[in-house]
Amino acid sequence: MLNEKVAALINDQINKELYSAYLYLDFANHFADAGLNGFANWYTIQAQEERDHAMLFLKYLQNNDGKVTLGAIDAPHNEAKSHMDILKAGLTHEEYVTSLINNIYDAAHSVKDYRTMQFLDWFVKEQGEEEMNATDLIKKMELFGSDPKGLYMLNQELAARIYSAPSLVLD
Ligand code: FEO
Repeated sequence: MLNEKVAALINDQINKELYSAYLYLDFANHFADAGLNGFANWYTIQAQEERDHAMLFLKYLQNNDGKVTLGAIDAPHNEAKSHMDILKAGLTHEEYVTSLINNIYDAAHSVKDYRTMQFLDWFVKEQGEEEMNATDLIKKMELFGSDPKGLYMLNQELAARIYSAPSLVLD
């Protein structure tokens, strides 16, 4: 049986991950509107990954006798105007998600819930990768984004990203 606070935080995380998917779809739309379909592809795949994260939290809760209560998903708060603003908003969002994962980890640790801590280990690593990918994108945009040819090549590179299912599987 999960601790009440841990279960509530995990339930809330389902919503946060689905919101992340929504936010990245909004980013994808921004780039699709701008004719940068490679960037749009990159964020659409990012949105798919976020949905996977939501499903992992959902499944974990169900597998541990928790009740899933789905709430409303907020509309994406995206004030970004430029392409670079979007990339930076992506990094800020991932840093926020990292803080949420750490928060659940803290709650699990405080009640000696080692099972949940082990489950969260995958997300701790994943967040490291998410932040690194967002940072890499910003660096590439800084280097090549102001030159039309550079932007074209970067867009081509991002068009090549393909979806792969998460390495963590919960039956
Ligand atoms: Fe599910 Fe991008 O964190």
